[in-house]
Amino acid sequence: MKVLVTGGAGFIGFHVAKALLARGDEVVIVDKLSDYYDVELKKGRLNMLEGVTFYQVDISDKESMEKIFSEHKFDRICHLAAQAGVRYSLENPYEYEKTNNLGTLTIFECMKKFGVEKIVFASSSSVYGGNTKIPFCADDRVDTPISLYAATKKYNELMAHVYYKLFGIQSIGLRFFTVYGPWGRPDLSLYKFTKLMLEGKPIDVYNHGDHRRDFTYITDIVRGILLSLEKVNDCDVLNLGCGNTVTLMKFIELIEKELGIVAQKNMLPMQKGDVHTTFADVKKTKEVLGWEPEVSVEEGIKHFVSWYKEYVNK
Ligand SMILES: NC(=O)c1ccc[n+]([C@@H]2O[C@H](COP(=O)([O-])OP(=O)(O)OC[C@H]3O[C@@H](n4cnc5c(N)ncnc54)[C@H](O)[C@@H]3O)[C@@H](O)[C@H]2O)c1
Repeated sequence: MKVLVTGGAGFIGFHVAKALLARGDEVVIVDKLSDYYDVELKKGRLNMLEGVTFYQVDISDKESMEKIFSEHKFDRICHLAAQAGVRYSLENPYEYEKTNNLGTLTIFECMKKFGVEKIVFASSSSVYGGNTKIPFCADDRVDTPISLYAATKKYNELMAHVYYKLFGIQSIGLRFFTVYGPWGRPDLSLYKFTKLMLEGKPIDVYNHGDHRRDFTYITDIVRGILLSLEKVNDCDVLNLGCGNTVTLMKFIELIEKELGIVAQKNMLPMQKGDVHTTFADVKKTKEVLGWEPEVSVEEGIKHFVSWYKEYVNK
């Protein structure tokens, strides 16, 4: 298959591109290399991807995107480019509008214009926002986002529905639950905590460590994406989560154990835009994709710390 991976210099996109290349697919990456976090990390990821065609292009740039679609006949689109992060959406909402909304619209318009029929795209567990029914089920209503980031992801799901109904574009929107692992994002807790602990600096512990997250290891996510690329044939939304929750405090304890360091902790209140608990119901994902998570959080943290020590903390 020839697959366009948007956001392929990003954390998840890089791992997906690597897995596609390993099984012999042709991979084209579009990524603008945004400076939301260290661009060198993105370049480092790209350097490891032998054989990809890379375009440093903004997905909301219609003309450049049309040119790329006219030059390649894609079998699948794996759309992962986004302005990510809940907290940053309070500071810079316009970037979310531009990339997540206009950018995603541009992808769907290009698919329509150039006859590409199948797309798998990144949504997020944050769409569950103020939902109180736990665990979160993909068929639950999601009308109460509490960040603009979440609202853009919900809009992407609605857009996918429209393009299916009007133009037959088939899609799976994957709601990822707190993804972590080697080559991960420096703005996410595991990377931040590991870095600060190794530097002997205190870590900020929001909500006094009492909120819960369904941490999902990157290889489980990649497997779910690859299965979705294979099976997409209507218009669906699925959870990709580990299916259990860990408190932030427990997560920190596991990192401490792995590093052999007791963290200095700044205990702080909950941050605006954050949800208290994320917890995925993955029954539907199992039915549709035959997917189940395999990596425990203990094992995942071990892999991350070993990568961090080898690559970042040399
Ligand atoms: N990592 C998680 O825990 C998580 C959870 C839920 C959803 N997601 C979603 O999964 C996807 C991938 O996330 P990630 O963790 O790899 O994030 P990431 O920030 O590492 O990757 C996103 C990539 O998109 C690129 N990008 C941003 N704006 C762009 C634009 N306008 N044009 C072209 N490229 C652009 C960035 O340069 C970056 O390399 C995103 O859609 C994100 O919202 C991630």
